[in-house]
Amino acid sequence: MIDNAHLDRLGRRVTLRPVDDDNWRAVADVAPRDDQRRFVAALGARYLLLSMRSDVWNSLAVYADETVVGHVMWGVDDDGSHWIGGMLIDAAEQGRGVGRATVQTLAPWLAAQDGNPPVRLSYHPDNTPAAALYTSLGFHPTGAMDDDELVAEQAP
Ligand SMILES: CC(C)(COP(=O)(O)OP(=O)(O)OC[C@H]1O[C@@H](n2cnc3c(N)ncnc32)[C@H](O)[C@@H]1OP(=O)(O)O)[C@@H](O)C(=O)NCCC(=O)NCCS
Repeated sequence: MIDNAHLDRLGRRVTLRPVDDDNWRAVADVAPRDDQRRFVAALGARYLLLSMRSDVWNSLAVYADETVVGHVMWGVDDDGSHWIGGMLIDAAEQGRGVGRATVQTLAPWLAAQDGNPPVRLSYHPDNTPAAALYTSLGFHPTGAMDDDELVAEQAP
């Protein structure tokens, strides 16, 4: 479990836990709003399959107290940079501070790995809520693109 003692706006403690025999169904069912599907997968299930099929990505379940409310994954690029991806908070749980707490939990954990790697993520330029969230947490565009997404790196 990755726990940085962050609470959401309802006072629930946000933690990141491995996907396991008990929680995988709930993680698979995590879904964005319909209008967000142009930015992210339609279900957490897509990210779980990606993690299973790839050597790069590692899925985590986002918990608010003991409830699964989202999915996030992390991975290591060839250049050693550590990435956050697959950030998806269930539509019914958005706007409660879970997304912010998730990044505030995962980013420092990644930055503390061996060699203190840079922490990066990418987002579609039209994804205003994601851009606002990441910018407020110190992620700045590097100028690089990953397909049609802006790559951003967190200032150390
Ligand atoms: C982006 C996302 C992860 C944010 O998660 P969340 O739990 O709703 O966000 P929070 O409640 O923690 O809000 C964090 C910040 O996001 C931004 N934000 C959230 N909802 C917003 C909205 N509707 N409009 C504008 N900004 C918004 C704000 O900057 C907010 O800052 P605040 O804490 O000062 O209010 C969530 O909306 C989501 O899952 N969206 C669909 C998938 C997606 O786009 N993932 C990102 C891919 S890069």
